[in-house]
Amino acid sequence: SGPLRNRIAAEGKHQLLSVDQFTRESVEDLFRVADQMQPIARRQKVSRVLEGAVLGNLFFEASTRTRVSFGSAFCRLGGSVCDTTGFTFSSMAKGESIYDTSRVMSGYVDAMVIRHPEKGSVAEFARATNIPVVNGGDGPGEHPSQALLDLYTILTEFSRLGKLLDGAHIALVGDLKYGRTVHSLIKLLSLYRGLKFTLISPHGLEMPPYILDQASTRGHVIEQTHSLQEGLPGADVIYATRVQKERFSAEELEGYSPDFQVNKAIVDACCGPDVIVMHPLPRDSREGANDLSVDLNHDPRLAIFRQTDNGIPVRMAIFAVLLG
Ligand code: NCD
Repeated sequence: SGPLRNRIAAEGKHQLLSVDQFTRESVEDLFRVADQMQPIARRQKVSRVLEGAVLGNLFFEASTRTRVSFGSAFCRLGGSVCDTTGFTFSSMAKGESIYDTSRVMSGYVDAMVIRHPEKGSVAEFARATNIPVVNGGDGPGEHPSQALLDLYTILTEFSRLGKLLDGAHIALVGDLKYGRTVHSLIKLLSLYRGLKFTLISPHGLEMPPYILDQASTRGHVIEQTHSLQEGLPGADVIYATRVQKERFSAEELEGYSPDFQVNKAIVDACCGPDVIVMHPLPRDSREGANDLSVDLNHDPRLAIFRQTDNGIPVRMAIFAVLLG
């Protein structure tokens, strides 16, 4: 994994801050490592490659699966994990800078995973240290490990269905403005050839133009609409997302009405038996939100729990490459 580590290094350091660090070749090399991790993830095999290593899991924003799956992935390779959760219970609430926090943590742990509400903040942590840093979500910026496990899921599902990713039709649905998972995912998918992206969002929550640069310069077809009925027909993948209300300004919240539920009726009406329905989770199950209906829970097209399972081998591969 040494050569791969050097190929995805950013600014000479072994860190994962953005999907921009990958080429199609290096992403597929990482997925071969993830495939090798599958039996270890399922406890059919044991590995201790990270024995003695300590991970600092620093989450300054809400998280369940990203924090636990990074921690679990590190432990499954024989390492140990120290956690901090929430801004309120950290020294940042006492005014400590990112620089000082990062310098201090570098003496305590061998790698850090950081989630923070500000875009660019994880890169700031990384600049202050030489230990591996992984971006676990920087506000509305990026979420590279999620995009990697999403792409791994799409490739796995497509290989089961006998489909190729080159030339596929991907529908991204929901909050494309603040949703960092779709920002990282569209950039990563753009490494493939001849894709059609349909971007389906409520008014005002469209994908920022700078995120689309990579997809458009690589010649992919990009269509934008505000209607599920218009955008979903023919899709090979429907990737639904939650509206990131916590990132809204007060005016934005006032004018917003949700009408973007992906459910069985619309999937049946617009797509075939081979479509795969994904979501980074959490889905918002509260009254009036419901970005992805529970009425697909027993539908084999719903890939969300296969997707979360894939988070373990993919995150194990990330650690194996960065620290192995
Ligand atoms: C997402 C996130 O935090 O960006 N969750 C995740 O990590 N799977 C999506 C979200 O919060 O809506």
